[in-house]
Amino acid sequence: MKIQAVRGTRDILPDEMPAWHLLEQAARQLLSRYGYREIRTPVFEETELFARGIGAETDIVSKEMYTFDDRDGSSLTLRPEATASIVRAVIEHNLVNTDPALKVYALGPMFRRERPQKGRYRQFHQLDVEAFGLTSPTIDAEMIELSIAYLEACGVEQHELVLNSVGDGSCRPAYVETLRGALREHAKEMCGDCQRRAETNPLRVLDCKVPGDQALIDGLPKLVDHLCAECRDHFTEVRRQLETLGIPYRLSHRLVRGLDYYVRTTFEVLSGELGAQNSVLGGGRYDGLVRALGGPDVAGTGFAVGLERLALLMPRREGETRCDVFLAPLAEGALDPALLLQRDLRDAGVPSMLDPEGRSFKSRMKQANKLGARFVAILGEDEMKRGVWTVRDMARSEQEDVPEGRILDHLKEKTNG
Ligand code: HAM
Repeated sequence: MKIQAVRGTRDILPDEMPAWHLLEQAARQLLSRYGYREIRTPVFEETELFARGIGAETDIVSKEMYTFDDRDGSSLTLRPEATASIVRAVIEHNLVNTDPALKVYALGPMFRRERPQKGRYRQFHQLDVEAFGLTSPTIDAEMIELSIAYLEACGVEQHELVLNSVGDGSCRPAYVETLRGALREHAKEMCGDCQRRAETNPLRVLDCKVPGDQALIDGLPKLVDHLCAECRDHFTEVRRQLETLGIPYRLSHRLVRGLDYYVRTTFEVLSGELGAQNSVLGGGRYDGLVRALGGPDVAGTGFAVGLERLALLMPRREGETRCDVFLAPLAEGALDPALLLQRDLRDAGVPSMLDPEGRSFKSRMKQANKLGARFVAILGEDEMKRGVWTVRDMARSEQEDVPEGRILDHLKEKTNG
C-alpha cells in the first residue's frame, strides 16, 4: 500500500518553489528596511504556553492543537502560531531589556487541526512579524502599512484591509457583560457554538459564520460604541495615520479575531480570490501578553501572513533557470571535455547540465528544451576532429562553430548578456 501525506498537509513541489523563494526573499528584504531581524523558535513548546497565551476558550486551544505527552509526562504542543513562542523567547532571553524597541520576524510551519479545504491546512506556513515596547498608534499604522507593502512586493494587488478596535482591560469587560446580557435574550435562536460561546466567551459570537445567525449578530451592541476615551483616541489616531499614508480600509465591528490576546487595534487583509478562507493575513496589538506570560509590562503589536494563501494569490511566473547551457557530448572521448566545461561554467555562475546517458541527438535536444536551456553545446566526432564545439542558440534556432579554446568565454558572454 502506498503511504500518502497526512490529511491536511501538503508537499510544496519544485514547480511551486519560484513563488516561495520570491515571497521569502521579499520578506527578508522588506523587513530589513523596516528594522526587523529574524528569530527562529522551536516548533514545539510546553502546552501551557499556548493555553495561557492564546486563551483556553479559543477554537485554536480548545479544538485544534496537536498536543502530546512527552516520555517524561510533560505535555507538549506543536505551535499553532508564532506570537506566543516569540513572546516566550523574548522573556527568556531578556530581549526587551537590551532593545527597548525590539522588532523581529519569523518564517516557518504552524500546526492546527482544522477541517482541511482550499487555503486551510493542518500544517501551514506563516511569516510572523512582531514589535515590542512601542505603545504609540504609529506602530499600529506602520504594521498595517508594512503588511500591505509586503503583499504588493509579492505582486498581490487585489486586497481589502479590514480594521477594528477591540478595546482593552478598562472598557472591554463592561462591553462583554453588555453583550452577554443581549445574548441571553437571543442565544436560543442561534447555532450550538454560539449558545456555548454566549456564556464562555461572548466576543467569539461576533466571529460566527453560520448564515442563520448573521442578522441577529448585526443587531448586537457594538464594541466600538463602548470604547474608553484612551482606546477611542488611539483608534482615531491609527485611522488618521492610515489616511495620511493613503491606505484605504473598511471598519468592521465584528473583527475580534480568533485569539484572545488582542487589545485595541485588530486588522485582517482579505482577498476575494481565496474563496471561503479569504484572510491572507491578520494581526493587531497585544499589550498585556508579555506580562501575562511572566515578562515585563511591555507593549506588543504584530501580524502573520499565511504563506500558502499568499502563494495562491501571487501572479504565475516563469520557472527558475535550471539550465542555461546544456552540454551534449556525442562522441567517444567527448565526455571528459564536457565534464570540465560543465564544471567551469558552474564555477562561473552559469547553470549547466550534461546528459551522460548517451541517448540520441534528438532526445537530447528534447531534454534541453524541457529544461529551458538557452544554448546547447555539442561535441561530436566531427567537432572533435576540427577542434570546435557547435553552439546552438535554442531561441533563434541558429548554430555556430566555436573553437575549443574560446568555448568557456563564449558561453559566459552569451549567457550573461
Ligand atoms: P491568525 O489570524 O490565526 O493570526 O493567522 C494568520 C494567518 O495565517 C491567516 O490570515 C491565514 O492566512 C493563515 N492561516 C491560519 N490558519 C491557517 C490554516 N489552517 N491553513 C492555512 N493558513 C492559515 C495569528 O496566527 C497571529 N499569531 C497573528 C499575529 C501576530 N498577531 C499578532 N502578531
